[in-house]
Amino acid sequence: MTKEELVAEALKARERSYSPYSKFAVGAALLCKDDEVFYGANIENASYPLSMCAERNAIYNAIMHGKEMEDFLALAVVGNTDSPISPCGACRQVLSELFPRDGKIFLANLKGDIKETNIDEMLPYAFDDSDL
Ligand code: THU
Repeated sequence: MTKEELVAEALKARERSYSPYSKFAVGAALLCKDDEVFYGANIENASYPLSMCAERNAIYNAIMHGKEMEDFLALAVVGNTDSPISPCGACRQVLSELFPRDGKIFLANLKGDIKETNIDEMLPYAFDDSDL
C-alpha cells in the first residue's frame, strides 16, 4: 500500500471522529504486515481530559484485535491543518512504547501534504521502561 493509500484510509477513519468540542476531526490508519488496517479517530467527552486521540485509538484497536508491535508497518494520521498534522506529546509517548522504531509514520493534512517521519524523530530521548 502506498503512503497516499494509507492516508486515504486515515481519511475514512476521520469520518468516525466524535469531536463536538474542538471541532477538530482527526483520523488514523495503522497498516500491519499482513495488510490488515486498523482505524482510529479522536473521540471527545464533555469532561474534556477524557478525550482520546485518533493515533492512540488506532494502536489500541489493533492490540485489542490481537496485533503486537512487531506486526505494525506504518501509521498515517490526518487532520485539517496548514502543515502535516503534529501528534500530541501523549501519543508520541504511547507510540514510543507500542510502535516499532523502523515503522513509518505519515503525517498528513486535507490538502494532500504528507510528511514521512518515525518515532525516534518525533520523540528523541523518550522515557521508557529502562528509566524505571
Ligand atoms: N488530536 C488527535 O486526535 N490527534 C492529534 O494528532 C492531535 C490532536 C485530537 C485531540 C482532540 O480531540 C482534538 O484533536 C483537539 O486537540
